[in-house]
Amino acid sequence: MLKPRAAVQNLPAYDPPLVWREGLRLDFNENTAGCSPRVHARLRELSANDIGYYREREPMEAAVAAHLGIDSDEVLLTNGVDEAIHLLCETFLNPEDEALLVVPTFITYELSARSTGARVIKVPAGKNFSFPISDLLAQINPRTRLIAVANPNNPTGATAEPDALLEAARRAPNAAVLIDEAYFEFYGKTLLGAWRGGDVPNLFVARTFSKAYGMAGLRVGALAGNSANVGMVRRLACPFNVNAVALACLPAAMGDSEYVRQYVEQVRRGREELQREFARWGIRCWESQASFVLAKIGAGQARFMQGMEARGVLVHDRSRDHNCEGCVRISIGKTEHTGQLLKAMRETLAEIGVTEIS
Ligand SMILES: Cc1ncc(COP(=O)(O)O)c(C=O)c1O
Repeated sequence: MLKPRAAVQNLPAYDPPLVWREGLRLDFNENTAGCSPRVHARLRELSANDIGYYREREPMEAAVAAHLGIDSDEVLLTNGVDEAIHLLCETFLNPEDEALLVVPTFITYELSARSTGARVIKVPAGKNFSFPISDLLAQINPRTRLIAVANPNNPTGATAEPDALLEAARRAPNAAVLIDEAYFEFYGKTLLGAWRGGDVPNLFVARTFSKAYGMAGLRVGALAGNSANVGMVRRLACPFNVNAVALACLPAAMGDSEYVRQYVEQVRRGREELQREFARWGIRCWESQASFVLAKIGAGQARFMQGMEARGVLVHDRSRDHNCEGCVRISIGKTEHTGQLLKAMRETLAEIGVTEIS
């Protein structure tokens, strides 16, 4: 075997799901309704040449920028937010640098930062997974070159106040500060454009078409920020990093805001229902502003997951995340899927001996 760079050799291998994920997939924060019918129709009408040609991403970059209300030189389209994270790390992190993360959080930040050889400093979230602003600020030093925060966070659904995030960006002027707003549509608050204020030119915001737009399989994300900083990241991006099919579908996706609105409404309602249901069984879960809920099943967690799977509902084991022993994360989807989820949950909880308290 060839010897890889030490930073790559030290990365854990990706651990894909062991089984073919059949059933209601509430384990990977996917959109259970899929893409808008307009996107699907556009896919069907693609020509052979649409597939045969390299398609430039720039015209769609301008369209996405207009959709977000910012300039096109402030946006880089990427192969999902995953690629945006990777590019940001590759652009700004040297092996002697430090990346600051609040844990538990989305694993890609750690993997991409570590792949550069940089040191990852993990700051544990506070009580109820609150954003630990004082602890985070205390870790900032001249070597801090990246701070990545998912807002809302995955897997907790917790949010950080805009002021806290801006303060972190101000106090770490040498760091790229990424606010990953993958679940923005389910929450509603954004820092998009905040880099224009003058005191946080180091701020980046990421958005995705994977979640509320239901296009995870097409792989489109957007990295937004100060034009000079985004320009540096752009130098590293492959010219055709976003595929032609995805680019061709973006106008239809952005044109169907009603589809996104309706889906988000269903998720928000389902989120409340699920939180209420956990309360009825005396199971701790955390207030979420995203499209999923984290719950502490406790000692019966493995049996809960098995029982759910036997009923055709897949949920995600998060017990290895920091401070998440006995926890599962459950994605919320369309109303009918929430019904299916709640039914399977009631049966499973009764089966593993949990009793209803109200
Ligand atoms: C916080 C967060 N960021 C980014 C992603 C990945 O987004 P994309 O599909 O755009 O790569 C996820 C997916 O689960 C996520 O939870």
